[in-house]
Amino acid sequence: MVEMIDTHVNRKEHDNIKWQVLKDDASLLPMTIADMDIATPKFIRDALQTVLDDKVLGYTAPSDAFYQSIIAWEQGHHAVTLTPEQIILMPGVVTGLSLAVRRLTQRGDQVIVMAPYYPPYEQVVTDNGRKMVKLSLVQREGQYVIDFDRLATLMSDPITRAIIVCNPQNPGGRVWTNAELQRITELASQHKVFILADEIHDDTTFSDAYPVSMLSDLMGPEAAEQTVLLKSATKAFNLAGVKASYLATKNPRLLAVLKRAATAEQLEELNTFGLVSTQVAYEQGAEWLAEVNQYLEENRNLAYAYINEHIPRIKPMYPEATYLMWLDFMAYGVTDKQLDQALREKGHLCLNPGIDYGEEGHGFMRLNFAVDRDVLKEALHRLQVFDRDM
Ligand SMILES: Cc1ncc(COP(=O)(O)O)c(C=O)c1O
Repeated sequence: MVEMIDTHVNRKEHDNIKWQVLKDDASLLPMTIADMDIATPKFIRDALQTVLDDKVLGYTAPSDAFYQSIIAWEQGHHAVTLTPEQIILMPGVVTGLSLAVRRLTQRGDQVIVMAPYYPPYEQVVTDNGRKMVKLSLVQREGQYVIDFDRLATLMSDPITRAIIVCNPQNPGGRVWTNAELQRITELASQHKVFILADEIHDDTTFSDAYPVSMLSDLMGPEAAEQTVLLKSATKAFNLAGVKASYLATKNPRLLAVLKRAATAEQLEELNTFGLVSTQVAYEQGAEWLAEVNQYLEENRNLAYAYINEHIPRIKPMYPEATYLMWLDFMAYGVTDKQLDQALREKGHLCLNPGIDYGEEGHGFMRLNFAVDRDVLKEALHRLQVFDRDM
């Protein structure tokens, strides 16, 4: 039986990051961060309750069934064929990225990051003593595209060792096409650059685009040779707080290095709730996910149409996937700080400032539309109030 999704959640009393802003100003409506104000599915909460009912939260080991749940999901939803040995468990995708950067590149090496970018990319590169080189995404017909000439130049630099490819892209919401991914692969292969494929958002998809995994059978052996896939069930099933993810590679040399590193740092010992929720999500979650994605698609369409029609000074990018909408406020001609302040003071609305995603995010704000539809309508109304007052 398909479980109805539950959008009536009250997170105000808890220490979640999103709703903390109310401590400073109770009038604010936060539409920030990348988790959902939609209940984590009941079948997952029930599985966790069963663990609690056993009364002991001792050490838990990943079972064969756990690995099989990942393998079946990746095969069924992304045409990624994996063996259990090719999977390395990680507390988080960012932890996995940091590990890959440290173990597959040397100090002083360059890592390419498409900009605007998910902010922790900068930390995992620069705080590990590597140099982040930005590939500024170019806007064409209201969407980001890749400047392949610039990418070729960056790739050909002998100290470039890796590129982070976020697909679907956060914050722009682009789903890179097969052709774009193939071109990245060709360049990476030619210049022996590793592809760190952050595909954490690739289960939040809509009817008009479906992301191809870098590690999918469709991409072929060249991509497989260069790629480390970073993935989790946490975005699509709203499990970010359980901290459970995995990385996978088909390149035996990379696998050996990363496996040894994960063992050295004892990273594969996932917490009990992470193991249970990931397995149950992948074993039982397909129908729930289809339902929630349908709801999110309707939210996306509503927000996109509403802003275009009623608040034309704000230019939304059309998110082909993810529950994040990237909004261009450049027409207001204010600084990023003034924009954030005005949204809070005039609209009582809190969005993620685009400038946090690199200079390329100047003048932008990111809106999370994974909320109850009435809350989304209220947020859009507040945006309009802000607009009228500017
Ligand atoms: C692109 C991207 N990668 C990684 C993460 C975080 O992953 P984790 O919590 O597993 O470290 C996020 C969270 O927003 C994200 O948007």
